[in-house]
Parts: sequence; structure tokens; C-alpha cells
Amino acid sequence: MEESPLQRITVEKTFYIETFGCQMNAHDSEKVAGTLVEEGYRQVGTPEEAGYVFYNTCSIRDKAEQKVFNRLQHFKRSAGKDKVFAVIGCVAQQEGEKIFDRAPHVSMVAGSASYSKLPQMLVQLEAGNKRVTGLSLDTTEAFDTPFTRRDNPHRAYLTIIEGCDKKCSYCVVPFTRGPERSRTSDSVMEEARRLADSGRTEIQLLGQNVNSYRDPSPAGWDFATLLDNVGRIPGIRRVRFMTSHPRDFVKPIIDAIESNPNLCSHVHLPVQSGSTSVLQGMQRLYTRAQYMERIEWMKNARRPISITTDIIVGFPGETESDFEDTLNLLEEVEYDSLFAFKYSVRPNTPAMHLGDQISEEEKTRRISILLERQRAIQIRRNTRRIGALEEVHVEGRHESLQQWIGRTEQNQTLNFSGRDNEALLGTYVPVRVTRAGPNSLVGESVR
Ligand code: 5AD
Ligand code: SF4
Repeated sequence: MEESPLQRITVEKTFYIETFGCQMNAHDSEKVAGTLVEEGYRQVGTPEEAGYVFYNTCSIRDKAEQKVFNRLQHFKRSAGKDKVFAVIGCVAQQEGEKIFDRAPHVSMVAGSASYSKLPQMLVQLEAGNKRVTGLSLDTTEAFDTPFTRRDNPHRAYLTIIEGCDKKCSYCVVPFTRGPERSRTSDSVMEEARRLADSGRTEIQLLGQNVNSYRDPSPAGWDFATLLDNVGRIPGIRRVRFMTSHPRDFVKPIIDAIESNPNLCSHVHLPVQSGSTSVLQGMQRLYTRAQYMERIEWMKNARRPISITTDIIVGFPGETESDFEDTLNLLEEVEYDSLFAFKYSVRPNTPAMHLGDQISEEEKTRRISILLERQRAIQIRRNTRRIGALEEVHVEGRHESLQQWIGRTEQNQTLNFSGRDNEALLGTYVPVRVTRAGPNSLVGESVR
């Protein structure tokens, strides 16, 4: 009998998925893995064992983007009859079909806005189609699935809004994740209740810009209302959220945190630069003074609120004095921690035509000064915490150090000793801080 193209494929229905990038991507991988399992695939721990290898990619900076091509290069020869490669996520959306030319052993390229079509794409892959694509951004819905595979039994991510309508001049996200789509408050609340029923006590609400959440159902909840309601679900003890855009960050969010103890007193509020003129070039839609106004709300709150941020150094045109403004902003705000990045030119972005004006050496110099300053701030702030009593959520154990790994409500790592024979994972333990480092605290459990 002649072999038909449909019988040709003998790839085993096992999959491996590697994730790069942000929490949104990490959570997307949980949804993709859940969908694959639902479709009869079995997850394995290494690409070598897998019939289907998925790379869920990030293109926020050039370095992140290169990672997937390094991986693909490594597996160039093992591709073929018994292995199928799929590139999904932000690089897939950004580079599209060009990926097939650059890495001919890839059979599928799909961006996150196409994940709802994953079952159909899998059918095509199984049929031996070597160029399966999901690249349309023309969607009005967030990807919602009951099959999300969450491996952490205590803590869970929950998407409330996808995409981004801002046009920050350096950023690929609007091009890789498409326009903003909010889920209905009913569907978010139902998923949050299910998470509570399954024993999870901590939920992290996710979106590229959670503050612009707008319930599309007649209830019409805004972000602060949604946040407050998730924090009132019985069984939920900690609610976090990520990421906030300062322009859309409104006072009612602080009011909700102040009045609902289950909402974590931590806000990640990316500033990007302390210089109003750089902020203008970045099209961030706020000035330094407007950003500081939001910081003041937090500093004046009844409960101390931890503040963290993202900074980009070396944006085109950033002068020494602009950079000084970023440094003095760090001192003014006294962040609990921050992520700092060297500017990276991204395809399609409005700032692309400005080129890369600041040299790599200068960016390196600026980022090291910045990180050094921030380290001093963190040592100063953390030292003040010695003696404080904190409630930590126990996340793991360092056997070699004989310590439990815990996280405070303000999202700081607080490792502690004592009570090592008990089953503490996932529980909440009162801990007295005894030592402080720049990035974490150490303490002793009390009681
Ligand atoms: N270059 C460097 N950093 C960037 N970020 C986003 N785009 C770029 C870019 N082109 C940083 C921002 C953002 C974080 C997720 O990544 O600080 O908040
Ligand atoms: Fe990377 Fe941005 Fe995509 Fe997240 S949304 S994976 S940070 S490019």
C-alpha cells in the first residue's frame, strides 16, 4: 500500500516546553501545556525525550530573542522524522514566517493571540504540515481555557487582561501581544474561586497593564473593584498584581489595598527613567512629577507599601544629566528593588529610527552605577527591618542551609530556621527578622 502523507508522521505524542520572558509567558505556557495534555499529549522533562518541542519565546530585548535561535541551532540535526519544533510567543509573532527560513526544521510559528486555535494547529502538525502558523492579531478576546496546568499547589497566576494599547516608543509588546482584551469579571471571579477551592491561597493577577482592566460585561468593574473582590474570596489570603502603568494607576487601587488586608502591599510601578525629557521620548505619557504624585499616595498610605520598578538606561538621547535624574529618583523613592535594562533597539517600534545612540560601554557604565546605588538603598532599607515580625508564605526548603524559603506579603524573600521537622510548605508562619542582606532577609520562626 502506498504511504499517504497522513500516515507518514510517527512522532510520539510527548511534549517539552521551555519558557523565556515574563510571567505572562510563564502563565501562557501553563495554558498551552494544559491544552496539550487535554489533547492527549504527555509532558516530559527534556527536549531529547520529546516528540514535540515548544519554545515559548520573548522578544523584549535582543538578547532574549537570540536565546531561541541558539536552542534551535543546537537541535538542528535531531529535527526531522521523530521531532517537531514549534516556536510560539513573542518572537514567533514578531518574526512570523521568517522563522521557517532561518530555522527550516521549525514546523509551527504561533503568537499568543492564536492560542485558542491550538487544538486545530496540533491537528495540522500531526498531519505532517511543515508550516503551521497562527499569526493573526485580529482578536477581541482573551484566551480563556479551563485546562490550565498549574504545578504550584499554593500559588497561581491568573490573567485578567491581555495585550497592550500603549505605544511606549521602545516596546515590542503591542506588536507581539496585540490590542488590549479584558476578561469578564465573572470569568475572572469564577477562576479565582476555583483556585481557592483547590487550596491555593495566593493569586497573582496578570496583564501587561492591569490598571487599564475594564470589565466588558454590563457589571463594568474597573481594576480596583476587581482586585478588591478577588481579595474577598474565602480562602484567598494574598493577592498580587503585575504590571502597572503609572499613567493608569489611580488612587482607588491604593484605597483598596488600604482597606483589604488580603491585597498585598506591594506595587510594581515601572518608571523607566527619572528624566521627564527621556520619558517624553519614550512616549510614557507622564512626567516625573506625575509619577512622584503616585509614589506619594503610597508613601502616605496607612499601611506601608513596598514599591519596585523597572529602569531602562541608554535610551537614545539620554544625557549624563538625564541619567543623574534617574539616580536621584532612586534616592527620592527608595525602591525596595528594581530591574534595570540596557536599551535595546526593537523592530517595528517607534524609537527604532532613532538608532542606538549610546554606546554599549556607556550603557554598561550607567547600569553598574545604577545597580550599585540601588544595592546601597536596599541594604539601608533591609537593615531597618531587623527585629520586625513578618508573616511569610513558605515556598520551599534549602536543605543545605537547613532553612525554609519564605516570602513576605511585600514580596521579599525571608528565609528562616526552626521547626525543620514540620510540614510547613504552603503555610503561613510568623518570622522575626534577624539579618538583612541587599536582596533578602533571614529570620527565625516564632511560636
Ligand atoms: N530595551 C530595554 N529594555 C526594555 N524593556 C522593554 N522594552 C525594552 C527595550 N527595547 C524593559 C522595560 C519594561 C521591562 C519589562 O523591560 O523596563 O518595563
Ligand atoms: Fe517578553 Fe514582553 Fe513578550 Fe513578556 S510580553 S514575553 S516581556 S516580549
